[in-house]
Amino acid sequence: MKVVVVNEIREHERRVALVPELVGRLTGAGLEVVVESGAGRAARFPDSAYEDAGARIASTDVLDGADVVLSVQPLEPSRMAQLSNGAMTVSFLPATQELDVVRAARDASVTSFSVELVPRISRAQSMDALTSQALVAGYRAVLIAAERLPRFFPLSMTAAGTVPPAEVLVLGAGVAGLQAIATARRLGARVAAYDVRAAAAEEIRSLGAQFVDLELPSLEGSGGYAREMTEERAQLQRDLLAPHVSASDVVITTAAVPGRAAPLLVERAAVEAMRPGSVVVDLAAESGGNVEGSQPGLEHEVGEALLIGGRNVPSQLPVHASRLYAANLVNLLLLMTSDGKVTPDFDDEIVDAACVTHDGTVRLETVREALGEGS
Ligand SMILES: NC(=O)c1ccc[n+]([C@@H]2O[C@H](COP(=O)([O-])OP(=O)(O)OC[C@H]3O[C@@H](n4cnc5c(N)ncnc54)[C@H](O)[C@@H]3O)[C@@H](O)[C@H]2O)c1
Repeated sequence: MKVVVVNEIREHERRVALVPELVGRLTGAGLEVVVESGAGRAARFPDSAYEDAGARIASTDVLDGADVVLSVQPLEPSRMAQLSNGAMTVSFLPATQELDVVRAARDASVTSFSVELVPRISRAQSMDALTSQALVAGYRAVLIAAERLPRFFPLSMTAAGTVPPAEVLVLGAGVAGLQAIATARRLGARVAAYDVRAAAAEEIRSLGAQFVDLELPSLEGSGGYAREMTEERAQLQRDLLAPHVSASDVVITTAAVPGRAAPLLVERAAVEAMRPGSVVVDLAAESGGNVEGSQPGLEHEVGEALLIGGRNVPSQLPVHASRLYAANLVNLLLLMTSDGKVTPDFDDEIVDAACVTHDGTVRLETVREALGEGS
């Protein structure tokens, strides 16, 4: 069967869905790998590296005869419509926001998988692209802040005097937040962090950071995720966090609640009260923002602090973001492969949960509702 890796055409996307190093895992399973010419260029993987690894490079009609199409961003509707009945796509696919893509997949009888929907169970850890890309984003956010901060991160004792370490506050200590904590610690900053989940306090401390205890009840939802809070609690939390924000040189926010807009954690006044030159990086800017006024891909001064809104932050480190993402896709694809054939088994809970369209139907109730199809 033919597995095709396409060029990413969306703005700011520099990742690629398969890296040369992993081509052999697919060919070794009896699959043919075809890479659209230039697909890996922005991630620094030349066509020749894919060829050396056993893939074929195609410049035209790349989707002809494709059985499986791998991409980072969802395949655009016009390309989805070119696929043959029963072909499969695997990519990020925020289905309720990408209704044109879902409609095109349904109408072409394409079996589409959304990597966001891979369940967070132990068996699926190696296929969990949300985790792999959050790791990259958490690391990168600290480097963005360190680069823009007009001060040192580490304590430095020199003949010319002692430079105190930067004070870094991380809000939201999930995958991205914990990686941000670890990275800021490695750079020598003094780090504090807050999260609403009970387990987070111990995880934060185990990385050598201080847990900011607001003495509020923890909020745990299902699957180890946070739960949405009342507006009254949210305001109380913002008020209690404000002095911690204002006393920090760097604030990195990563808070999210699945299926909801990002919670607002930091008001403008708290940023305005930060020391001149302080830096705030909001990794949740694309989903509404944790910091009042943050915009994805934009930065501006708030008081004398710099507020930076993240946009596709994993794509800023395309080599390793692609490497990890590709491993997630290969593991998911091989889960569905035997004897050189990719056949989804919907009795497997991973396959069942991650599939958006199959056989001309939309499998998710929420997406059917968003399409106005009802149940
Ligand atoms: N395979 C697995 O079992 C698996 C994989 C990944 C993550 N997880 C678990 O899920 C947890 C969260 O994962 P994630 O990082 O993808 O979550 P996420 O991206 O949905 O959220 C990021 C963090 O924001 C926090 N948050 C939400 N609202 C907040 C608020 N108002 N104030 C402060 N913090 C707030 C959440 O508790 C979470 O830790 C992880 O820490 C981990 O324990 C499990």
